[in-house]
Amino acid sequence: MVGIGFRPQFKAELFLYAEEVDFLEITADHFFTKSKEKRDELMTLKNHFTLIPHGLNTSLGSAEGIDEKYVEKIAEIIDLVNPPYWSEHLCFTKAGGIELGHLAAVPFTNQMVDVFCKNIETIRKTIKIPLILENITYNFVVPSSEMSETAFITKVVKDAQIGLLLDITNLFINAKNHHFDYKQFLKEIPTDKIVQFHFVGAFQKNGIWYDGHAHAVNDEIWEVLDYATAHTDVKTMILERDEAIPNFKELTNELKIARDIFKKYKT
Ligand SMILES: [Fe+2]
Repeated sequence: MVGIGFRPQFKAELFLYAEEVDFLEITADHFFTKSKEKRDELMTLKNHFTLIPHGLNTSLGSAEGIDEKYVEKIAEIIDLVNPPYWSEHLCFTKAGGIELGHLAAVPFTNQMVDVFCKNIETIRKTIKIPLILENITYNFVVPSSEMSETAFITKVVKDAQIGLLLDITNLFINAKNHHFDYKQFLKEIPTDKIVQFHFVGAFQKNGIWYDGHAHAVNDEIWEVLDYATAHTDVKTMILERDEAIPNFKELTNELKIARDIFKKYKT
């Protein structure tokens, strides 16, 4: 199954090419407004596609716990679309009541594993649909870290009994910027717990790679996606294009390449 992250910019074209899109990821936060227009949009999408909500601001890495009002909003969207699972990030976005406005990396510590476990347990009281967690990019490893990123991911997966969303582009970028081998990364994490991939193009500036979500998928990222498809139990993939969106036909070409890779290993 290969789908795309829904963006209102291509709403009209999406329906012209509906047969080339297996499912949609929706950014849950974009539908928190109860305006009739957004609710109608959500219901129209739901009537044509399986929708997977993707949260941005649950802040599962916040030591002070999670914002219950935010969880209620996510829960409402999940109730409306009834997805097989939903996703969030291995990060924090709030600290001491302050909104950071971006996905911030957590220190890879045992204490932080416990924070994730506790917050996930809290969420599960309200949201019964399974949650999967996504790896993010980071500029540097937080100095107080006690273990590698792969050991951290493995421990969260084991202790919280949770699945993963592997962002192929984030893996590629981190591997480039922090000089590690993505194949080794995949050897060290529980690849049988990977449910979904994200993928999109990346760009390089002054020797550093960035996830602008604004470029066609790079050849090197296709290579990572191919390798990761062969070496994980991935079930679904989402093209995550946010900016500089080309005509939809171009995006469906990328969906087709991903679908061909998926079929090569998973039929
Ligand atoms: Fe992503």
